[in-house]
Amino acid sequence: VGEDPASHVYVRNKIAACAEAGITSIEHRRDATLSEADLLALVEQLNRDPAVDGILVQLPLPPHIDSARVIATIDPDKDVDGFHPTNVGRMMIGLPAFIPCTPHGVLHLLKRSGISCSGKHVVVVGRSNIVGRPLANLLTLKNDLGNATVTLCHTGTPDLGLFTRQADIVIAAAGRPNTVTADMIREGAVVVDVGVNRIPDATKKSGFRLVGDADFAGCSARASAITPVPGGVGPMTITMLLFNTVESARRAAGRG
Ligand code: GUN
Repeated sequence: VGEDPASHVYVRNKIAACAEAGITSIEHRRDATLSEADLLALVEQLNRDPAVDGILVQLPLPPHIDSARVIATIDPDKDVDGFHPTNVGRMMIGLPAFIPCTPHGVLHLLKRSGISCSGKHVVVVGRSNIVGRPLANLLTLKNDLGNATVTLCHTGTPDLGLFTRQADIVIAAAGRPNTVTADMIREGAVVVDVGVNRIPDATKKSGFRLVGDADFAGCSARASAITPVPGGVGPMTITMLLFNTVESARRAAGRG
């Protein structure tokens, strides 16, 4: 809904990934003037449609629309973003649930890179409902992706470096460039950069370039591993969206 430029890019990438994986996707693009009632009606129509296994409402929504209300209207069994309070609650107590795509992608990125979080001190920087808080929560679960000791830092943390310097793994999800700099990480630490920030760059045709939340050049010299932006966490987010959608279709077919 609306003209957020980054949202258009994300949606385009999600549509392309669905096509590549053989998943049918239908885009319902609406102007920023769409009323909340009309958006809720669209979500309810998709809830009822047996041909639809997954519903994703790209955020942010225009300010006149109550995002929480829209999310709560999505059928939890089709909530492939894992944002519905039912899925958030289930995830939090370790029950089967759709797990939000970016946190889930970060955990698999680490696991498949041979980096276990078990017994490690993981410092998460950022407390969003989409990334920081679900990620911190998942990391505390007693399973093969979690079992970490977790510190959750945010804009109210006065001395961020005090905490990040004690981390085996730093996950930057604050939405601000240079939030994590080389002096803030331990030698050999792992840095996962979830940030996607547009900064002006006159040498680019688009007029901007993408940078993460960590100073990549500086942190690379000290870290044992670090994810790039773009190309690190972003593709994992989309992968986990496809994963959740396939899971949903399996469940709907009674093969969950
Ligand atoms: N906006 C930024 N990240 C996301 C996401 O993972 N899902 C949705 N629906 N909107 C987003």
